[in-house]
Amino acid sequence: MKTNRTFTMIKPDAVANGHIGGILDHITKAGFKIVALKYTALTPAKAGEFYAVHSERGFFADLVDFMSSGPIVAAILEKENAVADFRTVIGATDPAKAEPGTIRNLFAKSIEANAVHGSDSDENAEIEGNFFFSAFERY
Ligand code: TYD
Repeated sequence: MKTNRTFTMIKPDAVANGHIGGILDHITKAGFKIVALKYTALTPAKAGEFYAVHSERGFFADLVDFMSSGPIVAAILEKENAVADFRTVIGATDPAKAEPGTIRNLFAKSIEANAVHGSDSDENAEIEGNFFFSAFERY
């Protein structure tokens, strides 16, 4: 099943702007099944751990501040070709470049506050899902 799962987060901007329902609806209508779901928040330390791959980038400190600025929704999604298909559904990192109808085009405001996360590989999908969910929390 591993290759048919991806991990997503609804980021603090989208939660604060009331888009949890709209984004989950978009995700399920795109054919993804939600197999784990959690409303929680990242501490700065946890946000830094999650984005450790970007720790040398100039935007890292701002990204950690933003990602720990309010509640988020974490979810594991299942669908054939989940990782690649979900990247298509969310659109480009910068919402100004995201295709019309993608989640970031519809719900995001800036490259930092870009509404959703989507794993970029099967390996990272598994690591990121395990970061938020225990075995008992996944269907
Ligand atoms: P990245 O992994 O490149 O994008 P994606 O989320 O599309 O996989 O970057 C991770 C997050 O870092 C991105 O969602 C928002 C933030 N970010 C910035 O704040 N500024 C930037 O210039 C970039 C490239 C990313």
